[in-house]
Amino acid sequence: MKIKLNDNYRNLSESYLFSEIARRVREYKEAEPEKGERIVRLGIGDVTLPLAPAVVSAMEAAVREMGDASTFRGYPPEYGYDFLREAIASHYASFGVKIPPEDIFVSDGAKSDVGNIVDILGDNTVYIPDPVYPVYLDSNVMSGRRIEFIPGNEKNGFLPMPDGINCEGAVFYLCSPNNPTGAVYDREKLRVWVDFALRTGSLIIFDSAYEAFVTGDLPHSIYEIEGAEKCAVEICSFSKTAGFTGTRCAWCVVPSAAMSGGMSLNKMWRRRQATKFNGVSYPVQRAAEAALSPEGLGQCMENIAYYMENARIISDFLDRKGISYTGGRYSPYVWLKCPDGMSSWEFFDYLLTKAQVVGTPGEGFGSCGEGYFRLTSFGSREGTEEAVRRLEELL
Ligand code: MLT
Repeated sequence: MKIKLNDNYRNLSESYLFSEIARRVREYKEAEPEKGERIVRLGIGDVTLPLAPAVVSAMEAAVREMGDASTFRGYPPEYGYDFLREAIASHYASFGVKIPPEDIFVSDGAKSDVGNIVDILGDNTVYIPDPVYPVYLDSNVMSGRRIEFIPGNEKNGFLPMPDGINCEGAVFYLCSPNNPTGAVYDREKLRVWVDFALRTGSLIIFDSAYEAFVTGDLPHSIYEIEGAEKCAVEICSFSKTAGFTGTRCAWCVVPSAAMSGGMSLNKMWRRRQATKFNGVSYPVQRAAEAALSPEGLGQCMENIAYYMENARIISDFLDRKGISYTGGRYSPYVWLKCPDGMSSWEFFDYLLTKAQVVGTPGEGFGSCGEGYFRLTSFGSREGTEEAVRRLEELL
């Protein structure tokens, strides 16, 4: 062919982090079929507990509606059914945040929203924390954006701040509780970020996919900070809160107050979604609504307590071994320092070949992740305990 392709793709790493891990694990299993059978996966943050009973009932009832001529529905609204937008607005109200349902856009996943939001943004400098969820970086590389990294490290507790950044009208990505480090911004730190964004005319894209793991006075949403509605878009998901990694439903808040150059981000996102997206299926939206009902949320929080017990088992082990780590307290992720100065891919191979335990090498989340490793608590209790038993012997 002689067509022009998107040359920016030349600047991407060869494969997406979790595809690369899956490839290495597959190769290991082919080479060592017997040991391959013993593999315990604490790599990708994929949930293992089934959907909550209230969610399943709601989805079943919705499927029956779809199978009956009198209740059948065709295309869903591109922005989500009102019942779900209102349920999400009430969820925000439960932690004191007022979001009008019209500012909430339902989608099929936070990953899609993170990747798609780039569509409505122009050629700004984009600041991305390092280490970080790789989709922020890859989606901006695909669009050929200028990218600067804001380093997270032990010194700043893996919570980069805007100190020393000189910019005007830039785009910043933040994720709290953080993937991969599990670190959480408190209210004061988020206030610094919001004030900085307002002062410099910048936009914060705030990923709150792990908000359900937060307890106490830590913020669940950037909109808990005054003024954030003028400078922040928030992306959240049912994946980790309600175990929807395979069911697919999320939302993006694009406040009507967020304006730049006389253009409304809300109107632009509305236009973008109406053109390129046909909404999330009715049974899935009913299931998501049920996940936020008092009964459904209670059941989902029981699952989260189960995962947090796994995180405690992993953290206790690291404490016993004197291995330093962050996360595991308000986050399903435990971010540890690789022992004996190993690089993160070396440690990955070491755990895979010696203990058949799969984690995620920190370097896959950015160069500041080199020398670190992420374990997830989304595995089963038996798998987590077994992994810890093997690591106890190995390390
Ligand atoms: C992760 O392991 O970082 C997440 O599961 C990836 C995702 O949410 O897409």
